Amino acid sequence: MEPRPDDPAIDAQGDRPTSSIPDDVVCLGDLEQLAKEMLSERTWNYVAGGAADEVSLGWNDSAWRELRLAPRVLVDVSAVDTSTQLLGRGLAHPILVAPTAAHRQYHPEGEAATRRGAAAADALAVMSTLGSSPVAELGTAADGPWWFQLYVQADRDFTAQLIADVVAAGAEALVLTVDTPLLGARDRDRRTGGHTVDGLQPPALAGVPPSVALPPNPRPFERIYNPHLDPGLTWETLEWMVDLSPVPVLAKGVLRSDDAQRCVDAGVGGIVVSNHGARNLDTVVPTAQALPAVVHAVDGAVPIVVDGGIRRGTDIAKALILGAAAVMLGRPVIWGLTVAGADGVQWVLDTSWSEFAMAMGLLGAAQVDELTPDLIWR
Ligand code: FNR
Ligand code: LAC
Repeated sequence: MEPRPDDPAIDAQGDRPTSSIPDDVVCLGDLEQLAKEMLSERTWNYVAGGAADEVSLGWNDSAWRELRLAPRVLVDVSAVDTSTQLLGRGLAHPILVAPTAAHRQYHPEGEAATRRGAAAADALAVMSTLGSSPVAELGTAADGPWWFQLYVQADRDFTAQLIADVVAAGAEALVLTVDTPLLGARDRDRRTGGHTVDGLQPPALAGVPPSVALPPNPRPFERIYNPHLDPGLTWETLEWMVDLSPVPVLAKGVLRSDDAQRCVDAGVGGIVVSNHGARNLDTVVPTAQALPAVVHAVDGAVPIVVDGGIRRGTDIAKALILGAAAVMLGRPVIWGLTVAGADGVQWVLDTSWSEFAMAMGLLGAAQVDELTPDLIWR
């Protein structure tokens, strides 16, 4: 995808601060402010925005903050071990990069920089179907582990070929996004004529026919659909993909325990509890509140990943205490990419990793399996 010439952030690429995070930026919240200053209003609103009145956008953050911790004392934490296992792969820590679209909107090196920064921070990265880099580049950009997030297209043959291509490029799992049959009320985008996916030309979808055909003169209510998003996905689609894929398939966007159980019955390798960063359905439950029931229903059958509003090491610890195997960061990775490219992505992940280790130590948990439910104050 070529940078949009009308985006001053891209035009100003030449004189933007490069590959270093200022010393007075010490946490993800500090970085957010800097990224906001550096991006155009349109691009910033696309990144920061939530659906409609952004009620759930606020809930995503506050739901983690409102969980109170009850640390154990007098536990030897002189060797905190943040390592974990996920789908048979050993990871140095449980912090993944969430799939987000079109990274060349934020930095000219795009997804290649994201992959490099994640690998440098020993983090697994999930790359989006709507990324701005060709699939082959995702595989060669860095040595670290990566998964591919799929927006299944109505053309199933095209989708099957895309699956074969990403697995051949080295994707170790597929993440089927199940919560976005259409986009939500992206009011910020509408106000600024902003970056909905309509304007993007993702290389992974080059040549695919639209997943929906709008009538010739669509009425406003008929314009809710999007050419890259198939609103016709069903449980059959998930079963088709599980049967087809040579690598594990995770379902991303599950919030209900009954849906989680159906995912397990359909043969998924994992579940991502997510509300898409509160970007689609406003007043949807925040992920911190949805997680426990999904964990209970799945009962250890498959690993559960959670994302949405995770900004501190204590949030990561709380997610694992509630039963998640790992977390994903969405917007924070974009902030790092915007400010300092691959180094910025690495900084976001390293900072989160350090805060997570600190939280473990202060909770009296020397290994991740010691992050047990009793550490949440009831
Ligand atoms: C997203 N998200 C997303 N999800 C997905 O499955 N495919 C995608 O292409 C995108 N694109 C995307 C773009 C932008 C700008 C954002 C902010 C988010 C959702 C993403 O994977 C993740 O679920 C949330 O971003 C997690 O919440 P936080 O960490 O952003 O609060
Ligand atoms: C979004 C789509 C690309 O949230 O997933 O913008």
